[in-house]
Parts: sequence; C-alpha cells; structure tokens
Amino acid sequence: MLVNAKEILTKAMKNGYAVCQFNINNLEWTKFILEECEKNKAPVILGVSCGASRYMGGFNTVYNMVTGLLKDLNITIPVVLHLDHGSDFETCKKAIDAGFTSVMIDASKYDLKTNIEITKKVTDYAKKHNVTVEAEIGQIGGEEDTVEGKILFAKTEDSVKLVNETNIDFLAPALGSVHGLYKGKPNLQFDRMLEIKNKTNIPLVLHGASGLSEKDIKRALSCGISKININTDLQIAWSKQVREFLSNNEDVYDPRKIIKAGEEAFKKTIVEKLILTNSINKI
Ligand code: 13P
Repeated sequence: MLVNAKEILTKAMKNGYAVCQFNINNLEWTKFILEECEKNKAPVILGVSCGASRYMGGFNTVYNMVTGLLKDLNITIPVVLHLDHGSDFETCKKAIDAGFTSVMIDASKYDLKTNIEITKKVTDYAKKHNVTVEAEIGQIGGEEDTVEGKILFAKTEDSVKLVNETNIDFLAPALGSVHGLYKGKPNLQFDRMLEIKNKTNIPLVLHGASGLSEKDIKRALSCGISKININTDLQIAWSKQVREFLSNNEDVYDPRKIIKAGEEAFKKTIVEKLILTNSINKI
C-alpha cells in the first residue's frame, strides 16, 4: 500500500525504532526490497535520488514501476515512495505530480533564510497533495564543525526555526554522517541530535547510515532518529556477490541471471538493517 511517511514515522518516533529508507536504482532492487520487507512485515521507504530517477527514465516511470510491483507482488505493508535530496522546488513538484508520496527538499547549501523560503514553498505545495516533506539543515558529509568558515553541522536553534517556519514532517540534521564510505572513524554529534529532537519534536533522519557501527545506530535511535537511509551497504553487498558470480560463471550472458546473482547478499543486508532498526513486525 502506497502511503506518505507521516503515520509510519510518527509511530516509529513514539516507540523508539526507525523505519529504513532503502535507495532504489532499478526494477530488481525495488522488487528485492519489497519482497523482503513484506516477508518481515516492516514498513519501508523507497528512496529515489534525482540521478537514480533519471537513470530509470524519470519520475513517472519510477511511480508506475513501484505501483505495478505493489500490485503484482500483492504487497500489503506500508510503502513510501520518497524523493531523496530533491534539489529545488521544480524537481519536488515534478515528483509530487508523478505520484510520489513524500519528498526531500535539500536546500541546505543555502543560508538559513533561503533554505526556509525554498522548503516552505515545497511544503505549501506538498500539503495540498497529502505528500510528506523532509528538509536538511547543516551539510551532510562534514567531519569538522566548520570548513573555511562554513558551518556544516546543524545548529539546534536553526533547526527549530526551520521546523517552526516551514511545517515539514521530518528533518535531516547534518551531525557528522557522510554519504558513501567513511574515511576514518565516524564522529556523530549525539548530544546535539538529542537536543534537536527534544526541541523540534519531529522525527529525525540519519543520512549516510551505511558503514556505521551497530552501537552508533542504536545510540542514534535513542537520540531521536526515526528514519535511517541506506544505499552504499546495499551496493557493496550486491556488487560483491555479482562480481563473484561472474568470475565463476564466465559463460553466463543472460542479464536476469547476472542481476539476480546479487539477490541473496542484497536481501541479507536488508534483513540486517531491519533487525538493527527494530522495524520488523511494525505494520
Ligand atoms: P549511504 O549511501 O551512505 O548509505 O547514504 C544513503 C543516503 O543517505 C541517501 O540519502
């Protein structure tokens, strides 16, 4: 069932677990995610970056692919189709018009005033279509508090202002997590995470959750994280298994066999994340 993210994230926040956002890149990954989450009765958010959407043909193709799979696979769990890192109002609007049930507007590269203006424009439009909105503050990817004078970590007072003035549903505060592989030891700002959670009282999102230790993820959950985003760990698990398969089966050329070769490792990673976030049997 395609839904927006409001109810599943509010429930997760109240009960101290997190819903997984798994990023999708193609039909097979989408199918693997839906099958495994259905099997485990876990609500799920399908994250689609602008690049992944372009790769698959565009927002309409993605929407039709996802809704087709929900029907053909008899999926009963709540599924959110979410734009990941929407770069501007127009992009978010296009995703909403195509049928996405949730969007992230990432105007974090601008100053707070501009971030608020752009985010507000998106929430005003999204709310008319029953679509939930995630915004970002600070800049994900920062290991230092400032780089060349630029604040990268989210500040509590800025986060409160952004939430109060835009009517967003959930917030991604940049607090030391990075997309892709971590160089060195991750250094998440847990105290500030908890402070932002207590002062905003909306679900928080942890981007770049691949590569984080179990201890860090559990602590993040206890500090108000209700949604974690996973992409890289799935890519690594899937490609490793496909690479092995290809080197052991040089005569195979059927693309279905090649893509499917990564299914087991991919689904194993999905279950690990569902266990870690305690989101099994939460529908
Ligand atoms: P990873 O690729 O590090 O898992 O991050 C995914 C993400 O945060 C998508 O927004």
